[in-house]
Amino acid sequence: MEEFIVTVDGPAGSGKSTIAKIVAAKYGLTYLDTGAMYRMIALYALENGVNLEDEKSVEAMLENTKLDIVGNKFFLNGKDVSEEIRTPEVSGIVSPVAAIKAVRVKLVELQREISKGKKTILDGRDIGTVVFPNAQVKIFLVASPEERARRRLNEYKEKGIEADFESVITSIKERDRIDSTRKESPLMKADDAVEIDSSVMTIDEVVQAISECIDKKVN
Ligand code: CDP
Repeated sequence: MEEFIVTVDGPAGSGKSTIAKIVAAKYGLTYLDTGAMYRMIALYALENGVNLEDEKSVEAMLENTKLDIVGNKFFLNGKDVSEEIRTPEVSGIVSPVAAIKAVRVKLVELQREISKGKKTILDGRDIGTVVFPNAQVKIFLVASPEERARRRLNEYKEKGIEADFESVITSIKERDRIDSTRKESPLMKADDAVEIDSSVMTIDEVVQAISECIDKKVN
């Protein structure tokens, strides 16, 4: 089977994972949520009080973290952490963790390894720019901060996690700021990516727009 890569990058809460899952099912692609990988490292750092300023501590952390992805479940050192990685606490620390070069080197290698030779859709921040610059289809998914905060607040509500609009939008804007201004692989649109604004479109319409990009390459 020939490798076929679809990348979906964009800011926090733009709907990447919702859309990527639907497109994956539609085209029989493997879906890889790269944000969940950064979230697993962030969870480890949070639980173990890792000093992120200290290179040796970061190195030790990376040696001591084994990440496994089985279907839609995420395992950190053998433990299912699929729920824990979505809490506001992890969201609050993940961007500083993801800004560390050594962390990115390890995770990007893993992302390439997992996708090698497969038909895959990956979502993240640097997939079309750094991880797979030669991907067949590149999407940059955006939405207004207000819309993204509303969606994230709804997700928290569904899971019974307490949060208020102000703190969610503040956290999203702060994550966007760190992700876009960091030195290593900042969040940005690849020159050849198609930008889609999901604040003014339904999920079906976004899926349709991405499908058109894929169909053009396949047919
Ligand atoms: O789902 P949400 O939009 O909240 O974010 P996520 O995709 O779970 O990613 C969490 C964080 O991981 C982002 O804010 C980035 O700091 C980092 N990340 C990254 O640096 N590079 C990626 N390819 C994916 C995520």
